[in-house]
Amino acid sequence: MTKVEKFKFDRRPRRLRKTLAIRTLVQEIQLDVSDLIMPFFVIDGDGEPEQIESMPGQQRLGISHLQKACEKVFGLGIQAIALFPVLNPSLKDASGSDALNENTLVLRAVKAVRDAVPDLAVITDIALDPYTNHGHDGVLNKEKTDVDNDRTLGILARMAILNAAAGVDLVAPSDMMDGRVAVIRDALDQSEFVNTGILAYSAKFASSYYGPFREAVGSAQSAGTKLLDKQTYQLNPANRREARVETLLDEGEGADILMVKPAGPYLDIIRELRDNTDLPIAAYQVSGEYAQIHAAAKLGWLDFEKTRAESLIAIKRAGSDMIFTYFATEIARYLKSGNEIL
Ligand code: PBG
Repeated sequence: MTKVEKFKFDRRPRRLRKTLAIRTLVQEIQLDVSDLIMPFFVIDGDGEPEQIESMPGQQRLGISHLQKACEKVFGLGIQAIALFPVLNPSLKDASGSDALNENTLVLRAVKAVRDAVPDLAVITDIALDPYTNHGHDGVLNKEKTDVDNDRTLGILARMAILNAAAGVDLVAPSDMMDGRVAVIRDALDQSEFVNTGILAYSAKFASSYYGPFREAVGSAQSAGTKLLDKQTYQLNPANRREARVETLLDEGEGADILMVKPAGPYLDIIRELRDNTDLPIAAYQVSGEYAQIHAAAKLGWLDFEKTRAESLIAIKRAGSDMIFTYFATEIARYLKSGNEIL
């Protein structure tokens, strides 16, 4: 037997990786700017933007700076933003009452963005953690041992109505209380906001990757600890089937879009949902995923641009239709100047 015969095989997949042209031709998915949703942190006042230490390049913006940032992102082709208010600690209390203040920061921000960039889709979080002095997503029970699910639901419903009235396109319950999608849908419909959609944080895991976000909005600090335990309502990272149960419940309760969060460490969950629902799927590349890439790149251990691109392509490949990512603006700029992502 000659050498050649010995190694004769009929499939050579490397033929399709030979040149950039061929690789481009057979590339299965593309990351598009219209897949991206840019989250913004908003603060009161017109001071200079505040840098968020553990999220390099991200800032807390006053409303006029936010308007300018939104004009910029829309000009780059981004279709949607998500707004997170950073409240002055003096406004926080045990029941998160500022969430129901008609003039609360995030509602003023929504209206300002609507005025400045009417065609940009605006998404707001429905959860109490930016408003409570304990940092939890709901109000606590009498013993203060857990969130009070059903008392929280009524507050979330009223909060959703206020946000819809301010002009958001999608309310995004991120609280993980049982039954919230049904209650919010019902409240919106009763208040004639039948066209306000619900993007449900359906499979939201109790994750340590939220650390930098909690620093950014001050929810961990208000709890008096860097570690805020949300395990009685957010999902156990070990549970794939439970994620499916949660998600299908949200779909049944009337959610329009289902979300998985975090994204990168939960690609199997994204795929699981993609295979089990026809609704659009959003994935949230969270603050810790962003911080991790920055930190490793800063140490010279990873190539920043390549890792950033790969992290997002993987999230899309897993089956998500849209991605919340703090990289959105810079990726949009990168694509606009003629670069390819991969
Ligand atoms: C609040 C909320 C969190 C995030 C989005 N909405 C944090 C949390 O649940 O404590 C995290 C986003 C991120 O880490 O980027 N309900």
